[in-house]
Amino acid sequence: MDFKGLRVNGKRLQDSVEEMAEIGATPNGGMQRLALSEEDKRARDLFVRWLKALNLEIIIDDMGNIFGNRPGRAPGLSPIMSGSHMDSQPKGGRFDGVLGVMGALEVLRTLCEHDIETERSVTIVNWTNEEGSRFAPAMVGSGVWTGALDRDWAYDRTDINGRRFEDELIRISYQGSAPARKWPVHVYYEYHIEQGPILESQGKTIGAPKGILCLHWYDVYVEGEANQVGPTPMAGRHDALCASAEMILKVNELPQRMGGNMVATVGEIQNYPNSRNIIPDKVHFTVDIRSWDDGHARKAWDMVRSDFEEIAARRGCSIKIEETWRVEHSPFDVKLVQRILEIAEELGYESLHTVSGAGHDASYMSRVCPTAMIFVPSIGGRSHVEVEDTAWEDCEAGANVLLHAVLQSANEE
Ligand code: GLV
Ligand code: MN
Ligand code: MN
Repeated sequence: MDFKGLRVNGKRLQDSVEEMAEIGATPNGGMQRLALSEEDKRARDLFVRWLKALNLEIIIDDMGNIFGNRPGRAPGLSPIMSGSHMDSQPKGGRFDGVLGVMGALEVLRTLCEHDIETERSVTIVNWTNEEGSRFAPAMVGSGVWTGALDRDWAYDRTDINGRRFEDELIRISYQGSAPARKWPVHVYYEYHIEQGPILESQGKTIGAPKGILCLHWYDVYVEGEANQVGPTPMAGRHDALCASAEMILKVNELPQRMGGNMVATVGEIQNYPNSRNIIPDKVHFTVDIRSWDDGHARKAWDMVRSDFEEIAARRGCSIKIEETWRVEHSPFDVKLVQRILEIAEELGYESLHTVSGAGHDASYMSRVCPTAMIFVPSIGGRSHVEVEDTAWEDCEAGANVLLHAVLQSANEE
């Protein structure tokens, strides 16, 4: 059968993204749907209803990952998998992750409405806790499923209020019975917004990243001594917040000092007891270092770590450091990336070979099966913010590329 003229329904895709965006909508047009929250539960319930309407075989595993499978003609062949995540940042946008899940759903709806049979099965997935902002680290659902992370370790992660991951999974009724354990997958495609400025600035509609930067996460705990701010002289203070402030600037200066291609960020901080008239005695902050070159990122960490120790000693504070999470850089399958670029050209979309600075479940998936991603432009290069936006016609374009990539892969040997 010739599928050349086949296209997704852009309006239906838009409607689905917009309906999902109502669950956890923030007043400024964004999204707050933290992993395993009430909003996450409601989004999952709606998603499962939509999977049922397509008569898909639904599997929910013990990490809460949700799969919907559309059987192919050859049950012995491994499936094509595509999806992303529906959890969000605390003040995130309506597209990060959701577009990839709704895009894969739109592809399945298109196949169903045209009665298109494929040789291989096509499986849609919603991965649990991609963001890692409520429960660190990120990409935990795919991490456990692919065998990179231990399930019980993931279960014991806690949020800032001390709530356990597993307890929250049970509370929202999404601890399924199937073990979160990988099965053979022929190809994994993840469709996503770019979350950066490159596609827009170059006037391109489709991005095909060669892979994802490494992600190194650390948690730093600085301890000093609390005291009354008025009577306590400046000399001899052990101010944990001042020590942390110096450390944070060292992180910010790191990429420039190191040279090469890397970014380094402190995004989260807790200061105790957080009172204007008490010298802070405890601070926790996070460090995120990313680069295509894992060794470079590690060297950067070694350098900043010794800065931290020097600053802590000079300010009379103690320091405790946890190496929370490391994911090596993830090169995608060269042939699949090429395929994305070719499909974009066939469909008349301008495309760009790029790289992903954002982390995605595709990172872990690339370790177990050939993987590629499809990017569409983020307006103003903004993401993880409420104003995150992508033109609907670009959303449709990306879904069309996904449709044809899935069709090709689902009908090959
Ligand atoms: C995931 O959203 C990340 O890039 O941190
Ligand atoms: Mn995402
Ligand atoms: Mn994100």
